[in-house]
Amino acid sequence: MASLITRKLDEAVKARLRVRAAQRGHSLEEEARRILTEAVADEADTASGVTLPEDVAGESTGTSIAPTLKARRVLLVIGGGIAAYKSLDLIRRLKERGAAVRVVMTEAAQQFVTPLAAGALAGQRPFTDLFSHADEFDIGHIRLARETDLIVIAPATADLMAKVAHGLAPDLAGAVLLATDKPVLMAPAMNPHMWAHAATRRNIETLRGDGVAFVGPNSGEMAERGETGRGRMAEPLEIVAAVEALLAPLRPLPLQGRRVLITSGPTHEPIDPVRYIANRSSGKQGHAIAAAAAAAGAEVTLVSGPVTVADPPGVNVVKVESAREMLAAVQSALPADVAVFAAAVADWGVEPQQQKIKKEKGGAPPQFALRENPDILSTIAHMTRGRPRLVVGFAAETNDVIANAKAKLARKGCDWIVANDVSHEGGVMGGDRNTVHLITAAGVDSWPTQSKQGVAAHLVARIASALEAKR
Ligand code: CTP
Repeated sequence: MASLITRKLDEAVKARLRVRAAQRGHSLEEEARRILTEAVADEADTASGVTLPEDVAGESTGTSIAPTLKARRVLLVIGGGIAAYKSLDLIRRLKERGAAVRVVMTEAAQQFVTPLAAGALAGQRPFTDLFSHADEFDIGHIRLARETDLIVIAPATADLMAKVAHGLAPDLAGAVLLATDKPVLMAPAMNPHMWAHAATRRNIETLRGDGVAFVGPNSGEMAERGETGRGRMAEPLEIVAAVEALLAPLRPLPLQGRRVLITSGPTHEPIDPVRYIANRSSGKQGHAIAAAAAAAGAEVTLVSGPVTVADPPGVNVVKVESAREMLAAVQSALPADVAVFAAAVADWGVEPQQQKIKKEKGGAPPQFALRENPDILSTIAHMTRGRPRLVVGFAAETNDVIANAKAKLARKGCDWIVANDVSHEGGVMGGDRNTVHLITAAGVDSWPTQSKQGVAAHLVARIASALEAKR
């Protein structure tokens, strides 16, 4: 509509509009849309057209509110729950702190609050439709997903969380959340039974593992008569505080300014162009450590053997095949403050044949002389110059876990060893959970069985405090 209007404007008005748009960094159409939206908003505030919650409509915009979110861009995804009315207040609170707020509304959200009310408060039209030709042409879901500093989902319903956890993109909100490379904050709101349900618990664990941050939910009375418990959406000011913490952390992140090098996955040792020696490592643990270190602010290089797990966001991934390639990649990624060797490096390889080894009819099977691969951990831990300040190895053990791991720590010359009990039921290799003991000069810490993301978060926290102590 805006482009139709701008086309029909007389030249003098169009020239003034062009100057105004340029001053604000908008396109002509965008500026026209904003002027129209503001006019509608004024009308909605003063006339009876839009009913806003009392505290939203009644409060004057910030006289003494610090512009803590100045020039920060927030994409607010409003899900379909009764708490959606609070999201209107949230828009106002974000804007009065200086944030530019774009709004995406799910179809269900529009059953609770109108796009007109959300648009009036945001100062621009909300986005609602994945298949809208006009929207896709104008901005498009990829730009919506990327042209922001943070995505806030409020209310995050159980259904919306499940879709995001499973990577489903049936609508604009889902597509934006799948396409984004920006941090995501969820403010869940649902009935306490839905919050406590095993499926929701699983989804939360998955989302946390994917780096999603949460605020709330709070406990209290629910919209349903007589229902109380945990499930109320966090208050708008609590959500604003979480946004401020994510966008402008008061304290620097614990690994801010640190370089962390991590190896992960198996190695493949070539036999000939089609065959190789491998092991069962999935790379899940090493990749989770890389993700946790990046989330803690580190500059992370992940040297990975062949895996099917996705590259962690915000990490420089170097892909290798064999132990020798892994050593070369590790050496060229130095210097680093910390090196964590989570890869299951093949101990032996063979001299690879250039051509496929053929079966000779009636002949004996080929014999291979195994040759020892370089020990990457030991090589780096024994460097006399440029050694990372903290070198962490892993020890995959099936028996005498702690005794073997202690011997490995001494033999390899590293500072810490994370001892993996690979005989644990359920299978650590390839599985999602891990039981580890952290062995340091100070002693042995045995951690409870937990998700690999949990192990990663604990390890990164220990690394951060060790570096802090060394400082
Ligand atoms: N490691 C390495 N390079 C190798 C072998 C192992 O960097 N060639 C590292 C692993 O990444 C891990 C640690 O050394 O951090 C221990 O690996 P593990 O497989 O448990 O020990 P090994 O040295 O292979 O000893 P063993 O197989 O006898 O237990």
